[in-house]
Amino acid sequence: MRIAVLKETANGESRVAASPETVKKFIALGASVAVQAGAGEGASVSDAEFAAAGAEVTKDAAKGADIVLGVQGPDPKALKGANPGAWIVAGLDPFGQRARVDDYAKAGFEALAMEFMPRITRAQSMDILSSQSNLAGYKAVIEAANAYGRAFPMMMTAAGTVSAAKCFVMGVGVAGLQAIATARRLGAQVSATDVRSATKEQIQSLGAKPIFVESVAGIEGEGAGGYATEMSEEYQKAQAELVSSHIAKQDIVITTALIPGRAAPRLISDAQIATMKPGSVIFDLAVAQGGNVEGSKPDEVVVRHGVKIIGWANTPAHLAADASALFARNLYNFLSAFWDKEQGKPVLDEEIGNAIRLTHGGKVVNERLLG
Ligand code: NAI
Repeated sequence: MRIAVLKETANGESRVAASPETVKKFIALGASVAVQAGAGEGASVSDAEFAAAGAEVTKDAAKGADIVLGVQGPDPKALKGANPGAWIVAGLDPFGQRARVDDYAKAGFEALAMEFMPRITRAQSMDILSSQSNLAGYKAVIEAANAYGRAFPMMMTAAGTVSAAKCFVMGVGVAGLQAIATARRLGAQVSATDVRSATKEQIQSLGAKPIFVESVAGIEGEGAGGYATEMSEEYQKAQAELVSSHIAKQDIVITTALIPGRAAPRLISDAQIATMKPGSVIFDLAVAQGGNVEGSKPDEVVVRHGVKIIGWANTPAHLAADASALFARNLYNFLSAFWDKEQGKPVLDEEIGNAIRLTHGGKVVNERLLG
């Protein structure tokens, strides 16, 4: 069983799908590991460290591979020489990169999309969305604090008092919870909102104030797998009104709202930005999925009405070392959980296999892509 770790080629992608720790662990399972030279560079892992962990560092890692690990889906051309039926295990962006999924099928590969991992207890340690969103939530607050021309905590000094920054977090999933915790640690006064009413208690338990639409039916907002559903027009209107009155008083806004398989919901309009104080900062974590904030642009700082709007196309890549280490562990936890010692390879069960398998036997087989 040969596992290949390729160097990422997507623009701005600095992460790597394995770490020296996971290389050692795969070898302990009986696999051999080939790492493409330079694969760890962006994440501060040298070829020498991969080699010391037991990997073969080579220019042609895909050659003879049975399993190819990636952060993002590799270009099918980079898979030349991989064994027929090889598994491609990565964040494959199945909706955004649909044509590439077809290419994997045509080439006879078995593509496994890690972002389709079901949200069940036993798969928590395999969930790349959680591990990466958590770091992204942290980094968004740090970046917003950096761009803000004032301090976060209240300070009483001989020269006078500096008041605490007011920070509003919109969308309280994994990223939002970490954003709340980080802003609180920095000393901001934090409030937060979500469409899922279950988040109210979580917001309070982190010492932040929940801001919720109370009067409209359908506030549950929770669909399959704990994800948000699209809300009714009535709800969206009530939410916009609530946000309008709240946002004008905020210094920092972090938006994280996503709906799987759809464009990110628009939460903040240009007219609402105009009510904010000049010097305020908005970080739009959903910018790559279309953005929660009107006018936000990937990898640009847009200034509207004196408010800075920031968003990165790939936030976890800005903490590549930690993001890679956690991503690598997610992949190891996944493959090792299904490792069949006798066969010397992983064998998936139905629940997880059917959820993440995109292609098999030359065809696209995943329900979410066919439906
Ligand atoms: P996500 O990244 O899909 O969305 C971020 C947040 O935005 C969510 O909380 C969502 O409710 C919210 N949102 C969507 N539309 C909105 C709107 N119009 N206004 C305000 N907020 C809006 O969510 P994420 O972070 O992936 O988490 C979703 C849930 O899944 C959470 O309850 C989380 O704890 C759970 N989870 C479970 C796992 C497991 O059991 N293995 C692993 C990871 C998360």
